[in-house]
Amino acid sequence: MSRLGVGVIGAGVISQTYLENLTSFPDVDVVAVGDIIPERAQAKAEEHGVPAWGTADDVLGDPRVDLVVNLTIPQVHVEVSAAAVAAGKHVWTEKPLGLDRAGTQELLRAADAAGVRVGSAPDTILGPGFQTAKRAIAEGVIGTPLFVQTAFQTQGPDLWHPEPAFLFAEGAGPLLDMGPYYFSALVSLLGPIAGVAARGSRWRTERHIHTGPRAGESFPVEVPSTVQVLSSFEGGQHGTHLLSFDSALERHGVIEIHGSEGTMILPDPNRFEGRIAYVKPLGVFRDGMRTEQEWIEIEQQGTVVGRGLGVLDMARAIAAGRPHVATGELGYHVLDVMLSAQESASTGQYLEIASTVADVPLLPEGFDPFAAELG
Ligand SMILES: NC(=O)c1ccc[n+]([C@@H]2O[C@H](COP(=O)([O-])OP(=O)(O)OC[C@H]3O[C@@H](n4cnc5c(N)ncnc54)[C@H](O)[C@@H]3O)[C@@H](O)[C@H]2O)c1
Repeated sequence: MSRLGVGVIGAGVISQTYLENLTSFPDVDVVAVGDIIPERAQAKAEEHGVPAWGTADDVLGDPRVDLVVNLTIPQVHVEVSAAAVAAGKHVWTEKPLGLDRAGTQELLRAADAAGVRVGSAPDTILGPGFQTAKRAIAEGVIGTPLFVQTAFQTQGPDLWHPEPAFLFAEGAGPLLDMGPYYFSALVSLLGPIAGVAARGSRWRTERHIHTGPRAGESFPVEVPSTVQVLSSFEGGQHGTHLLSFDSALERHGVIEIHGSEGTMILPDPNRFEGRIAYVKPLGVFRDGMRTEQEWIEIEQQGTVVGRGLGVLDMARAIAAGRPHVATGELGYHVLDVMLSAQESASTGQYLEIASTVADVPLLPEGFDPFAAELG
């Protein structure tokens, strides 16, 4: 039951929060940071007191590294994760796990053969928000889940991002960039998705950068900038999911689960906490009078941290020989759902999802990120 040695590859924007959190957990030991631009790795290593820095190969060659945290860009996720597996390391990767089915499946097969584990973001499903909601749904507070609605709609990240082109390129768009949060949350709560139909649109084929040194430059829109998905779950539920970079009305983090005995609202799946509340059906109006619908609040259980929780869960799960929560199989199923939705949006066909995934477990009771459980 020893602490896990962690090496981070990719020292960009999101590495800051990962390094802050991972270096605060007693059960993991961040020993190296690597990047294709080694100076970035050096700066992050020095800022967070990590002893070694260099290239990705330096991290992979470091014998103290048991698990690689892959924080590179989506286009090289599979390549970097596969190199870690080939070096005999466990891997946690940022989302999406990969961009195509064949390469991603090959990664999971290689990990199986090597006896190492793959974990995939988002780890928001391990946060107190979704863990508490999952327990409440399992306890039956809204009865049998029947159908779901989710919404993510904004005017698009080109309004604030200084380098937004990649968010409108193959492998991104609102579906692949934001979909992992919504579909991972729903699959972790309700089980696998059996099929999807979708429609998409791209009303502008070119957009502009609005901020930063390249403001005014244009870039192509390669994928639909709005997608609406109709999903069927293996458990019989169905759902509608709006993912848009084209809406004047900013609204995101909407997840509603409608059950036979109530409707629950859940936290933004891009966050580790948030409001959980439900309403009961109003029932028969008394004397023709409509009663006020009352929200019943559910208090979240657990400590809120943030990104890195999935890595910590992997460290403890590996030591205990139990399954971890956010597995590569879950990441693959969610990717399969999103790619199928993309295909459905271009062909107009309803598509059955070939992959499935086992029930997503809850974290062990009383999971405390700051406890020292490993020697
Ligand atoms: N930025 C966010 O708010 C955010 C939030 C959640 C998830 N993510 C995810 O995190 C990942 C990284 O996002 P980011 O915003 O930090 O991107 P970024 O571009 O800021 O950082 C990526 C880093 O990876 C390095 N890199 C690229 N290819 C590499 C390779 N082959 N080997 C080694 N290093 C390589 C780059 O030099 C860069 O430093 C993405 O998958 C993204 O979807 C980002």
